[in-house]
Amino acid sequence: MPQPDVITKGQRIEEVPVGGAVATDDRTRERILRFKKDFHQRILDQIDRRQSLNKYELKAQVEAITEKIFSREELPPFLGLSKDEFKKETFDNVLGFGPLEDLLGDTDVDDIMVVGHEKIFVERSGKLVLSGKAFLDDQHLRTVIDRMLRIIGKSVNDLSPYADGRLEDGSRINVVVQPLAVDGPQMTIRKFPETPLTVDDLIKRYDSMTQDMADFLKIAVRNRMNILVSGGSGTGKTTLLNALSNYIPEDERIVTIEDTAELKLKQPHVARMETRQPNFEGKGVVTIRDLVRNALRMRPDRIVVGETRGGEAIDMLQAMNTGHDGSLTTIHANSAEDGLLRLETMCTMAGLDIPLSSIRKQIAAAVDFIIQIGRFGDGTRKVIGVTEVLDMKADEYVIQDVFKFEREVILKDGTIKGKIKVVAPPLRFNSYVQSERDTLERIFGKGSSSAKAKPAAKAAAKSAKPPAKPPAKGSKPKSSKEAAN
Ligand SMILES: Nc1ncnc2c1ncn2[C@@H]1O[C@H](COP(=O)(O)OP(=O)(O)OP(=O)(O)O)[C@@H](O)[C@H]1O
Ligand SMILES: [Mg+2]
Repeated sequence: MPQPDVITKGQRIEEVPVGGAVATDDRTRERILRFKKDFHQRILDQIDRRQSLNKYELKAQVEAITEKIFSREELPPFLGLSKDEFKKETFDNVLGFGPLEDLLGDTDVDDIMVVGHEKIFVERSGKLVLSGKAFLDDQHLRTVIDRMLRIIGKSVNDLSPYADGRLEDGSRINVVVQPLAVDGPQMTIRKFPETPLTVDDLIKRYDSMTQDMADFLKIAVRNRMNILVSGGSGTGKTTLLNALSNYIPEDERIVTIEDTAELKLKQPHVARMETRQPNFEGKGVVTIRDLVRNALRMRPDRIVVGETRGGEAIDMLQAMNTGHDGSLTTIHANSAEDGLLRLETMCTMAGLDIPLSSIRKQIAAAVDFIIQIGRFGDGTRKVIGVTEVLDMKADEYVIQDVFKFEREVILKDGTIKGKIKVVAPPLRFNSYVQSERDTLERIFGKGSSSAKAKPAAKAAAKSAKPPAKPPAKGSKPKSSKEAAN
């Protein structure tokens, strides 16, 4: 199936210097770095280490040492920084998160990717660019990593050279150090806006979806459809999952399960759970699968899983098919068909001896809709399709697009113009609420809300034949094989 210019790898990279002086040649760059390193070392050498200082005392000491140096010395002009700017940079390096301080505070930056001490990439407005900032050396980078992890009660060392965590501001952090990281420590930070993006933001600010699509998805969530949000890395899966989860009625008990708690739901009754990595002895690990199984004993009305990646898929399907419908999760896949195949693979990862044909039946019965997101070359993210999973026939999934993004033109600057279009009305569910039926008819046309499936008995409805009503003119349900061609 042809994909619009969805970017997963090899994005265009531009060098954009950020803050401070821009070194135009290697020699100047080298001189600046040497000066900064020397200055940093002078401060470290002069800190009184005989007593343990709290952070305020330490800051006062660094301030006093810096002032003393500044009272005797001028900054070299090649530095291109005022004393105040240099002082701030020094404080950030000695006491804070070094060059990451500014980037963490920059609301235009979504992702920060540190590749060894010299390169810090950022994602701004959907584009990957070099920040122009750097750490002094690998040791400095490592000190900052340890400082960041210590605050959240984590660490990395030779025995356990990688870590995942959540910073105080809610950002997600992943660190890999030597010997796993070949060219120096690697750090990836995913920042989230203070207030998570809402469906309204996705429609009006980012043009990522249409009001009709949102209205439909709201009805789907409220009518307990099982929904997979599918997309590549960083396409906005968690953001959309979060926005959609807020459609779950307030009187329901929601259990959320994530590797790193990123979801921010507004409902009053949300039980949040997070996995645990093994300790340095390799013990104490708690997986998504463990938590999904545990969630079933927590009397959930809804289970929201941040990302389905492994054997938990089979537990989720079984839950969805045995009364815990209305579950929402994300999956890493490039199309709806790909998502279904991934799900099959994940189910087999559970190590249970279930025949593939039975797994497929469970998937077809459980999954109602797959929402596919894509990231385009111009940096925008869009919902490129909503697909209904109807049935399983002769080992093929019968699926039907409900909405689809159609690309119209690509402008010279790479901007992609297109429209999200209605393809066919959903066949497998209907709403008992009149206002919702009116909305469905407004979006999909008269008669589109009269399908006979019963929301309360969705699992049973799933195993029945598709309703007699034909889909919209010009579109017919396709098998996953047809869709893939
Ligand atoms: N539709 C959108 N338009 C613009 N920015 C978006 C959109 N959706 C998400 N973002 C931003 O993109 C970044 C990635 O979003 P998100 O974490 O939801 O992606 P993801 O697909 O879950 O990533 P991962 O694969 O790493 O889990 C975040 O900073 C988020 O605020
Ligand atoms: Mg995510």
